[in-house]
Amino acid sequence: MMNYQDITARRLSGLVGAEIGGVNLAPGITQRTVDEIRDALLAYNVVFLRGQELTLDQFLAFARQLGEPSEYPLLPGLPGYPMITPVVKRENETVNFGGVWHSDTTYLPEPPMATLLLARTVPPVGGDTLFANMYAAYDALSDGMKDLLGGLVGISSSRKADAMRTREDRVSEAGRPNSDTELIGEHPVVRTHPETGRKALYLNIAHTVRFVGMTEEESTPILRYLYEHSVRPEFTCRFSWEVGSLAIWDNRCTMHNPVNDYHGYLREMHRITLRGDAPR
Ligand code: OGA
Ligand code: MN
Repeated sequence: MMNYQDITARRLSGLVGAEIGGVNLAPGITQRTVDEIRDALLAYNVVFLRGQELTLDQFLAFARQLGEPSEYPLLPGLPGYPMITPVVKRENETVNFGGVWHSDTTYLPEPPMATLLLARTVPPVGGDTLFANMYAAYDALSDGMKDLLGGLVGISSSRKADAMRTREDRVSEAGRPNSDTELIGEHPVVRTHPETGRKALYLNIAHTVRFVGMTEEESTPILRYLYEHSVRPEFTCRFSWEVGSLAIWDNRCTMHNPVNDYHGYLREMHRITLRGDAPR
């Protein structure tokens, strides 16, 4: 970890997440500040900045300083801003987008390295998001389990029922023409983070279907254990949003799960994902 000159970082829990202070993104930030935020992201795996009520152009400009924005495959972006996806739950809706533990779009061959989520409208209470540290989940496994998993490849599908349910309102309203076709990604279940060199568990209950070379019946008991293990309370943190809160999470070493406890209230976020590489 660097000694920061521009930013402050305050941990949210023992193992994952930090709130970053001292930054005002709206007027634009220097390369040194960008480097410090990136360093904090690698150190804390998810970082949060408050009070960033950015225009769409400012949001996009900041995202471009961190990486290369990519389009979400299943839903169109905002008019004129294909890289910015609205993540919305309306007053009359009961299902929340992505409301299950996951890392983003692991059914793609090259899933996004990071996601930026900016809060525009939040409920008076509730609508927090949980994050889990997948390095910590890997590190806590026995040597025997690490050896077993080290040789396994997981298959992710865009059509697992629970995940599909969490986006069906949005897809039926505004889905892309091809959002019905199944997308499949095959990735090592233990991946080595390309920047930190650390090993992280890489599988999730929303998208992972089975291991390559094994049936679903054979894979499920192991997967179920790992899903439960990965989200042990000590591996997690919880973030409470305000309007203008911005989260940046590293999809290569975390999972997240938005809590659906605010029925009757609007929650509206803007999301940008940054292009990643093929997990190895
Ligand atoms: C996402 C997502 C979480 C939230 O945008 O990928 O999972 O808190 N959102 O809305
Ligand atoms: Mn997500």
